[in-house]
Amino acid sequence: MERLRIGEQRHTVLDFLAKEMERIWASFDHARESEPEFTASLKLLLNEQLPEGSQEIIEVLGQSVDVLESSIAQSRPRFLAYIGSSGLEVGAIADFLASSYDINQAIDSRASTVLEQQTAKWVGEFIGFKSAIGYFTSGGMVSNLTALATARNQALPASRKLGIDRKVAIYASHESHYSVRRTMEVLGMGSESLRSIPIDGHHRMNVTELKRQINIDLSSGITPIAIVATAGTTLTGAVDPIGELVKVAKEKQIWLHVDGAYGVPAAGTARSALFEGLDDADSVTIDAHKWLFVPKSCSLVLMKDRNGLAMTFSHHEAYMPHANDDYNPVDLTLEYSRPFRALKLWIAFKTHGAEAFRDAIEKNIRLAELTYQIAAQRSDFRVLPYPPDLSIAPIQFLSPSESNRSALNERLCQRILEDGRFYISTAQINGETWLRPCYTNFRTTEADVFALFDVVTELSAQL
Ligand SMILES: Cc1ncc(COP(=O)(O)O)c(C=O)c1O
Repeated sequence: MERLRIGEQRHTVLDFLAKEMERIWASFDHARESEPEFTASLKLLLNEQLPEGSQEIIEVLGQSVDVLESSIAQSRPRFLAYIGSSGLEVGAIADFLASSYDINQAIDSRASTVLEQQTAKWVGEFIGFKSAIGYFTSGGMVSNLTALATARNQALPASRKLGIDRKVAIYASHESHYSVRRTMEVLGMGSESLRSIPIDGHHRMNVTELKRQINIDLSSGITPIAIVATAGTTLTGAVDPIGELVKVAKEKQIWLHVDGAYGVPAAGTARSALFEGLDDADSVTIDAHKWLFVPKSCSLVLMKDRNGLAMTFSHHEAYMPHANDDYNPVDLTLEYSRPFRALKLWIAFKTHGAEAFRDAIEKNIRLAELTYQIAAQRSDFRVLPYPPDLSIAPIQFLSPSESNRSALNERLCQRILEDGRFYISTAQINGETWLRPCYTNFRTTEADVFALFDVVTELSAQL
């Protein structure tokens, strides 16, 4: 028997997985009372040398589950740090199927290539960016890079061959994601070409400041490449005024990219008014592995037409045959080998229906509102002057015995992480450290929000 097959053990392995997955998914439905210890035996396992011989697969799978159980899983309902996700069950099943077929989306792979476009269109419909074409990428970083490379090519068509021969600028709010800056570094525009536009009292890009900066640049001979509207900032969930930014972009003929990696799924819900103007943008980034709940990695870059992508990425390599002289997906994407990421979102939409996604997103927003209300009513917390737009609710703990609020909240966050019942991160807002619960998991409930305040109250007394 070929040594790289599971062979006769297939049935045993699938039985083992079926039982384990039932237990694991059930465990995600409830919070753990603490994080398990990183045991000495696990450390020994993770210090083993390259195995030359074979080992019983059930034993190896058991060890893998031990590693996973001792890792920080974003699927658990009390993971409220950064921008988490949910590891949607049908998404995990889809990954298993897709990996087994191991299709490469770089070339025309028949049905899977059509499914990718169908799913991108569905996502466009869901958020109100109609007739979108789109490609799945590894994450918001790569989606932003793809869109901004296309914008650069549109503004400077010769740059693909000759490089950038002049001063350029990209405009994004002071609280835009670091991936915009990194993109500019990687694309040779230089991070100093990023115009970090001040925010208003609601943490949205200040449009008057944007116009002022563009006029200064134009009169100094600097070429604008793109305006980046953040639709859901990582710090507070603020949504830049997309409609107003579209007007500026159209008037000045500048590419408008919407970085909706986190927040844009809310455009498909009762919060759609916040995203007014989205349909007139040139490109949109959306991370399905954030607020559409599927497992990583699953991001999309959406565009109204594919010409820009083709001008930026297409090529003719002898080893990449082109059917009917049409482009291959690899001519329209940055990545070469690309897994079949679309399947998990396709299965998820079909199995649960778009309405279930809208409900889950709105439920997350209500959890952020509840967090805001509880903190606003307590004298030992401070909140922002307005309720959350999306599902991030920054709160700051106050204590009469500590005037340095940043130091207090840093210590408190550290204590929460050591305790292990919740996983939470901090954010620097208006120059101070805040706790920043972010709700992007469909498993998190109101009971978890109340428990968060109980835990914070208990642990803050120990500081
Ligand atoms: C607004 C925004 N853009 C881009 C990204 C980068 O996304 P990814 O981690 O999927 O590369 C993030 C990540 O949190 C984000 O919040």
